[in-house]
Amino acid sequence: MLPLVISAFVVALVLILCLLQRNFVPLTIDGWFCKVPPGPVCWPLIGARGVDPIYSWITFTEWAKRYGGIFGLFLGSEYTVVLSDINLIRSALSKPSFEGRPLGTISRSLFRGKGLGFADGKLYREQRKFAVNTLHHLAVNSCQSDNPDDTTGLHEIYAALVDDFASTNGEPLDPMHFLQKASVLVSCDLAHKGVVKPDDPIVEDIITLYKPLFSINVSTGLLNIHPWLKHFPPYRQSYQLMQKAVDHGRGIAGKLVEQGRTLREKRAQVNQEKTLFDYASAFDRKMLSVSEEKSFTEEQLIAAAAELVMAGEEDIHAMMYWLVLFMCMYPDIQERAQNVLDELVGPTRQPSLRDNGNLDYIEAIVMESLRFSNFVPFPLPRRTTEDVQFSGFRIPKGRLTLCCSNLITQKNAS
Ligand code: HEM
Repeated sequence: MLPLVISAFVVALVLILCLLQRNFVPLTIDGWFCKVPPGPVCWPLIGARGVDPIYSWITFTEWAKRYGGIFGLFLGSEYTVVLSDINLIRSALSKPSFEGRPLGTISRSLFRGKGLGFADGKLYREQRKFAVNTLHHLAVNSCQSDNPDDTTGLHEIYAALVDDFASTNGEPLDPMHFLQKASVLVSCDLAHKGVVKPDDPIVEDIITLYKPLFSINVSTGLLNIHPWLKHFPPYRQSYQLMQKAVDHGRGIAGKLVEQGRTLREKRAQVNQEKTLFDYASAFDRKMLSVSEEKSFTEEQLIAAAAELVMAGEEDIHAMMYWLVLFMCMYPDIQERAQNVLDELVGPTRQPSLRDNGNLDYIEAIVMESLRFSNFVPFPLPRRTTEDVQFSGFRIPKGRLTLCCSNLITQKNAS
């Protein structure tokens, strides 16, 4: 009798949970009839079992082999579609219906929908267009300019990095900290040219600032899947740390924006021919211009500048760290790369973007390192902004969409 009562209780509990969880039943039934993408068995509130809590992309890579380039699952109570086929990813990311950002903790509450990576809608479209154009312009400017100010920043950073390495006198070292410093400086050079110098204490401040943010998985981390966790320990403490990091980062960005303005005014007063050009100054110009685009505000400038420094620091140092590792692992490739640089750039100057196109071997090393390390296994998460018919399946409005690049980058790995 007792086992029967327990079974009835469990069945009743599961039924209540199914009914409590919005869309669980209809989406599960749609899954049986192949209307929504196939995927693993999911439980109400818990979702799919067996997703690695930290390295979820490893689980998704295995599931992609079983279910194909598009599959669906519940992550907690959040219905999520995972894409791992390059053509499907390209097609989805080019459609406005996939350009929303998740409504979870990270986007809404931490970043408050401002900046680039966690904004959506009209603000995101305007800001992304501006960011792509400005960054392209900055790169072209640095390739074509004869003004030494356009490249001094980068050369100073390079010299400081070489000094850091030289200071270890050939002893074994972990280059992480040196590379982090250089990455902060490169990102600041892009956002606030000439404001931050290699020995500025703010560099260390920025390095330590964002650590709590990068310790979480913004796509499938528990806080994003169950936002209510932020009210309970230990998530409350990590959430508070992350909030502090975002706010402090924006505080620093605000100061750097102001210092950049003062620097440009001073240069204008002493009749320096060309004013420094960076992301913040391009944004300032845009704010002054008469435009229909309403998202160009001081708050957005600060959020975007903080994000450029944050994302740039993390991605550049990760990239360089992998490159250093690969060069240590493959000394023959390192030697050939050095020979190419000696031959095509020579010993009297530093390489610059002007050499782009002549350094195919170096470019191939960078591309292969990016592929092999795959250090961004998920681009930032997306959300469908309407019901979408995609690759023969229906994806309802408001669903999390993750693009998992692991299978693509590892496909031809030897
Ligand atoms: C090798 C270096 C880098 C890699 C592999 C990388 C990778 C990525 C990826 C995969 C995304 C997600 C794109 C999406 O979801 O549409 C992204 C977004 C972003 N990255 Fe990077 N990144 C790198 C360097 C940088 C640098 C140097 C900066 C800034 C100075 C930067 C700033 C950003 C920003 C602001 C976003 C959000 C853009 C958006 O949502 O449209 N990244 N990055």
